[in-house]
Amino acid sequence: MTVANLPMNEAPDEFVAVAQAAEIAPGTMIRVAVGGQPVMLANVGGEFHALRDVCGHRNAPLSRGRLLDGHIVECPLHFAQFDVRTGCLVDGPVSADIPVHAVRIEGGTVYIRLAR
Ligand code: FES
Repeated sequence: MTVANLPMNEAPDEFVAVAQAAEIAPGTMIRVAVGGQPVMLANVGGEFHALRDVCGHRNAPLSRGRLLDGHIVECPLHFAQFDVRTGCLVDGPVSADIPVHAVRIEGGTVYIRLAR
């Protein structure tokens, strides 16, 4: 897998290559880094979605949790649930949604542009 790790504090404005799409099976997720920021990248039925990989409750990495019903990520620490397609909170001890990053697929490569 190709993972783009840029120096800290250099979050890119552009799309950055992070992985090969074929390496992420439908219904699974991985953790990548863009500009030093952790990003959860999930394959939902062949569509890729990227979220900040930090739960808004106690900062647990969502990518270490479980994907339920193919599109709900469950935080591994206190089980908050978010829709990976929108970042919206579904349930749990937190009130904020998770920022969503833009995803583009080109030539089988997954590119991410960080949300501002
Ligand atoms: S850290 Fe995610 S629900 Fe508590």
